[in-house]
Amino acid sequence: MASPSAKSSGSPAAAQRRRLLFVDDEPNVISGLRRMLHKHSDAWDMQFMTNAAEALERVGRESFDVVVSDMRMPGMDGGTFLAKVAAQCPQTVRFILSGNSEFHLICKSVGSAHQCLAKPCSYETLVNAINRSFRMGDALRDKILKTLVSQIGSLPSISAIYQEIMAEMGSGDPSVKRIGEIISRDIAMSAKVLQLVNSAFFGLATHVESPQHAAVLLGINTLKSLVMAVHIFHQAGFEDHAGLSIDKLSEHSIDVGMSAQKIGRLIGLNDTEVQDVFMAGLFHDIGKLILAAKLPAYRDIILHCRKKACSMYRAEAEKLGVSHSQVGAYLLSLWGFQGSILEAVLYHHRPNESHETAANVLTAIHVANAMMNEIDPPDRDILTEPADQTYLEKKGLSDILPECRKICRDYKINACKVTQSEGL
Ligand SMILES: [Fe+2]
Ligand SMILES: [Fe+2]
Repeated sequence: MASPSAKSSGSPAAAQRRRLLFVDDEPNVISGLRRMLHKHSDAWDMQFMTNAAEALERVGRESFDVVVSDMRMPGMDGGTFLAKVAAQCPQTVRFILSGNSEFHLICKSVGSAHQCLAKPCSYETLVNAINRSFRMGDALRDKILKTLVSQIGSLPSISAIYQEIMAEMGSGDPSVKRIGEIISRDIAMSAKVLQLVNSAFFGLATHVESPQHAAVLLGINTLKSLVMAVHIFHQAGFEDHAGLSIDKLSEHSIDVGMSAQKIGRLIGLNDTEVQDVFMAGLFHDIGKLILAAKLPAYRDIILHCRKKACSMYRAEAEKLGVSHSQVGAYLLSLWGFQGSILEAVLYHHRPNESHETAANVLTAIHVANAMMNEIDPPDRDILTEPADQTYLEKKGLSDILPECRKICRDYKINACKVTQSEGL
């Protein structure tokens, strides 16, 4: 299977151009896109087509870095088209363009699209989304990671419910009730979310009966993050591998997300950053989940770490050339995540490699992860690394660790107390 950059189209300059394919059955939309994006033609080799079946044939013959498809098309809808593109070339970044009235169709299609863009889509939104996928791709898609991702094959897609919640939140008049209803429609998802919300992790005094109730108590952003986490951690195909327990990894991720929020407040992050901290905490180790589930050789790395008292990050770097941080950030970038969440996932083991100067989401995640690894590691036989003192000194936070350790300990003790009193 050809990778998007595997195909050369002639001259060396042309070979470096990104290849993009736009598919929409409306000739007016296609000519609008062509006009709108013309100024990028030096850097982008763009193909525009009005027929999904023909476009699919072309994807079979040539490779593309990005495919942008309309949702509603006669013959083959955008969801089906992108699913076929995904099967033929899993590394191609896939965007779907859709109007709000077609959301039921989006829900069908998100399994095949990395990101949905609302129609009409402004020039800025479209170009930013495409450029973001290239930028993060460049940072993450070094040759080794690219080869590794191609071995992994098709990466999981963003949750349909999550996208619906995002659309509701972007509607200008978001309603907690409607968001609760969106989650309630998926019975398995609501059951799992409620189980989590009522578990020791959140230490809530009241029993939460419905997703609406959860949204009121936890806030829409926290609930949205949980929906994503449930979708990812509990999908078919992700089972325990070589003793890497998915339950333990998801517990560790929630622990880091919850305690990092408290650390975030301690270091002066604002409300938006604190919300991002929770999401970043939930997904900071998602790369491990992907590698364990999809890369058979990862099993040997886990076993090697146990035997040689070596950290996972170091062993991954030595044996794969990339780490779970890069794989996780790569996946999140495909889902359209950007900024501080992506940065926190990418650098959570090597915060000094980030160029940000102020204390930020990464700082909270880095410290919470190191503390939680010390207090209750996801795998007791595997060595973990302490917080990076040089990094903290640079941020003027060299004396913060004792207080952060206390925050993480108190959180864990409370969670355990609730667990015991519930007889879990
Ligand atoms: Fe990690
Ligand atoms: Fe971790």
